[in-house]
Amino acid sequence: MTTNGRTVLITRSTDGVGRYIAERLAAGGTRLIVHGRDRARGEALVERIAQRGGEARFLAADLSSLAEVRALADAAPDDGGGLDALVNNAGVGTSGAGRELSADGFELRFAVNYLAGFLLTRLLLPVLERRESPRIVNVASAGQQPIDFSDVMLTRGYSGARAYRQSKLAQIIFTFDLAEELAGRNVTVNCLHPATFMDTTMVRLSGVKPISTVEEGGAAILQLIESPALAGRSGLYFNGLRESRADPQAYDESARKKLRALSFDLVGLADPQSARV
Ligand SMILES: NC(=O)c1ccc[n+]([C@@H]2O[C@H](COP(=O)([O-])OP(=O)(O)OC[C@H]3O[C@@H](n4cnc5c(N)ncnc54)[C@H](OP(=O)(O)O)[C@@H]3O)[C@@H](O)[C@H]2O)c1
Repeated sequence: MTTNGRTVLITRSTDGVGRYIAERLAAGGTRLIVHGRDRARGEALVERIAQRGGEARFLAADLSSLAEVRALADAAPDDGGGLDALVNNAGVGTSGAGRELSADGFELRFAVNYLAGFLLTRLLLPVLERRESPRIVNVASAGQQPIDFSDVMLTRGYSGARAYRQSKLAQIIFTFDLAEELAGRNVTVNCLHPATFMDTTMVRLSGVKPISTVEEGGAAILQLIESPALAGRSGLYFNGLRESRADPQAYDESARKKLRALSFDLVGLADPQSARV
């Protein structure tokens, strides 16, 4: 198969909807960077893609560690080549025994579902910008809950569902904020709810009966990665294939500023906008 010259990184693409879109893109000639925690599963997928004539490589990282996110960002660029799309797809669902912490001591779902993608995106922006019209896609959810900025780490009133929903809204707030920052540059950033209760590990673990397929959610994610109709369009939230509205907090300027300041602080990066003041 001849490659189409494009390279795409998808987090947690060793299974679930991430694997579905990885296989679809690879079948179209896109070079894939497959990410996950499970090396055996990652290498098996790389092998399967190669057998079908595609190109892929696997990078392992546990996204509950900011050090591993940094190592992933360091390993991702192909020799000076750049990235055409980054898909922040990895996520921990609602199930679990109780409040858990990341390797860095942050509430686990906030850390894995949101903060890891925030840091990975920030670190890979210069790599994305080497390409002509790169896209960032944040796979969020219709399950959203406003962030309580007095207790972001959920030390009070914790539930797995609340932790999941606030992390998903954080991804959307980040998308809107970053789109504003990147206006006039070549990179776009959009987010979406792919589909409701797809048949994946995350949904099965939560004990819910799946009501949609990875093909449905995958089509919605693929639209944001490659639809010509979305060229140059940024800062959008989609529910499946349709543009939609997120929770009101995503449109609240002060919430955006608070999340932005907190996120730069937690990952230990300087905010490029405040550096310009
Ligand atoms: N499924 C749905 O119906 C649905 C609906 C709305 C939104 N979404 C979103 O769509 C995205 C993909 O969903 P999915 O259902 O396809 O998910 P999934 O692949 O079933 O995701 C769960 C997997 O994430 C991996 N994971 C857990 N902790 C991790 C960590 N610290 N670092 C790296 N990987 C970790 C685990 O795999 P390993 O044990 O193999 O590492 C786990 O099995 C998620 O962001 C999800 O929130 C899904």
